Order: sequence, then C-alpha cells, then structure tokens
Amino acid sequence: MNVLNALIVGKGRIGTALASALQARGWSTCFFASWKDNAPFFRVAASRADVVFLAISTRDDGAAASTYLLEALRAGRPVVTCEKGALANYFEDLEPYLPYIGFTATVGGGSELLSLVRRPLKRLVSIRGVVNGTLNFLFWQVAQGQDPYTALRAAQERGLCEPGAQSLAEAVNAELHDALLKSAIVWNVAGLGSPLASVDFSYSILAEPEILRLLRKAATTRFVLTIHPTTEHHWFEFGGFMARRDGWMVRGDFVSRNDDQYDALFNLPKEHNALIVKRRWWHASLISGRGAGIAPTVGVMVKDAYRLLKST
Ligand SMILES: NC(=O)c1ccc[n+]([C@@H]2O[C@H](COP(=O)([O-])OP(=O)(O)OC[C@H]3O[C@@H](n4cnc5c(N)ncnc54)[C@H](OP(=O)(O)O)[C@@H]3O)[C@@H](O)[C@H]2O)c1
Repeated sequence: MNVLNALIVGKGRIGTALASALQARGWSTCFFASWKDNAPFFRVAASRADVVFLAISTRDDGAAASTYLLEALRAGRPVVTCEKGALANYFEDLEPYLPYIGFTATVGGGSELLSLVRRPLKRLVSIRGVVNGTLNFLFWQVAQGQDPYTALRAAQERGLCEPGAQSLAEAVNAELHDALLKSAIVWNVAGLGSPLASVDFSYSILAEPEILRLLRKAATTRFVLTIHPTTEHHWFEFGGFMARRDGWMVRGDFVSRNDDQYDALFNLPKEHNALIVKRRWWHASLISGRGAGIAPTVGVMVKDAYRLLKST
C-alpha cells in the first residue's frame, strides 16, 4: 500500500496532534515552519505531498494562510485548513478552489456545522447558531456554579482558548473575534449574497465588568450568531458585532433565553456548538456537537483529507 505524504504548516497544538493522528494511520508527515525566505521550498514541498494541512494561528487578517492555500493549490495539491482568517477575509480569491479545500474545521470543529449551509438554502428564513464553543463552555461552567476565573482556567487547560490571552477580558474578546471570523465564513459559504470580511462588521470590545455582568446571567445567556432579513426588526442585545449585506443582517450578540424555538442553543453542554437553519415550509434543521478542542478539530481535518483524496 502506498504511504500518503502530509505537509503540515504550523507546529503548534493542532499541527502536532494532527501529525500523530496521521502517523497512526500510516501517513508520512513533515512540517513546514515559516514562509520567511522559504517560498520556493514551500512550493517544492507542497508538490511532493498528497495533502497540505494548514494549522497556523491568525496573526494577520488571514493573508499568510491565504498565500499558503493558493500556493498549495497552484502546486496541484488539495489543502485542509483549520485557520479562519483566509476564508473570512479572502473568500473571493479562494472561492473558485473550494472543491479542493477542506475547511470543515474552520467553524464548529468536530460538529461539522458548515455541512448545513453548503446545500442550497432556498426560502431561507434564518440561520441561528452557537459558533464559539469556548464562550459556550465559559457560560455553561458558570451556570453550573463555577466562578468565572476558574471556568476560564478550565477552558485554557482543555486547549479551548485562542492563544495569547492573559486576562478574562482578553480571552473573551479573542473569542468574540473568533466568532466574527466564523460568522463571516458561515455567510460566505452559504452564498446568500456577496462575501463579507471582518472590515464589513461593526463590533464592540467588552471590558471585564461588562463580561462579569453577562456571566452573572449565565444560566439564561448565550452568545448567538443570527442571520436574518434586514426587514425583520430584532432587538439588539448587549455586546458583539453586526453587518448588513444584500438584504440580510449577520449579527453576533449575547442573547437571553426568551424564545422557546431556540431552546436547543441554550441547552448545549460545555464546548458544544450548534446551527439551526429555518426555511419557509420546512422543519428547522439542526446540527450540534462538540466544537472547540484539539481532538475534534484534528478528527474532521483527517476526515476532510480522505474526502478530498477520494474526489480529486
Ligand atoms: N485549538 C483549537 O481547539 C482550534 C480549533 C479549531 C481551529 N483552530 C485553529 O487552528 C489554528 C492553530 O491553532 P493552535 O491551537 O495549534 O495554535 P498554536 O498552538 O498557537 O500554533 C500555531 C502555530 O502556527 C505557527 N505559525 C503562525 N504563523 C505562521 C506562518 N505564517 N507560517 C508558519 N507557521 C506559522 C506558529 O509558529 P511559531 O509560534 O513558531 O511562530 C505555531 O507553531 C489556529 O488558526 C486556530 O484558530 C484551533
């Protein structure tokens, strides 16, 4: 049996766990550390791999990730990515190559939420979802009686938090930014209008006292993405982001439990994610599952790789 070769860009938590998971399946793996001064080497290494995997952090607006993706695709190789900036901010450049990109891990990790919006969304009424498992984990833990700082430490110990945050406010605002990128990806993949990027959103940054105030209502509050027609009036809740595009509004805010239809979003345990798609004359479709975290993310990246190898 032929050994499959993986080129992994990014030797962090995901990249390292991915290498172990692929090796356990008999793949040969090698890492690519940095683009700097190494662009010609990347092209050669990518062309020798069966699949290129992108597991880098987003230190810019996704430009670096977008360059890796396009270079690997130009080398004729399928790419699997868990980085969000590229699909959020460079969607127009990447859209022609979507059949060769595995991007399931960019939104909802192991729960594969994007499969719900990739199919044609005729007669769409709304999309609602919990797209940041880390915020869900924090609110869930505090609702179970844990204090906010212990809940944050537990999230960090589980590898759920975006890297680099030193305080509760930094951690929550980093997750809000992560939710904004994921919301742009959901919109872009759903294809309801022209692509959105981060710069198209207005958003507010939360201070620690505001976050603590929200966490005091943790039992009845969740951070929810909503996409609905702009003609519908919606009361804005506290904190988050918002963009209008082609007759639709895409917003993420902390909402309180006041609508029975969305009970599913308020009952999600720990770092689970969910998406609910409502269409006229159809029952609502729901996908939910464990989102954030290293194991589920690596699991769907490996699954994407086999799917791409089969179809390309
Ligand atoms: N952790 C999760 O649960 C999870 C879930 C879904 C998606 N993701 C996404 O997965 C990605 C990786 O997450 P992680 O937790 O593994 O982060 P991490 O531990 O911070 O690792 C990121 C790695 O990327 C490398 N890197 C950054 N920019 C690079 C560039 N331009 N070229 C080459 N390497 C570069 C870093 O190298 P240096 O530090 O040496 O510069 C580091 O080794 C992120 O985009 C994250 O949003 C994570």
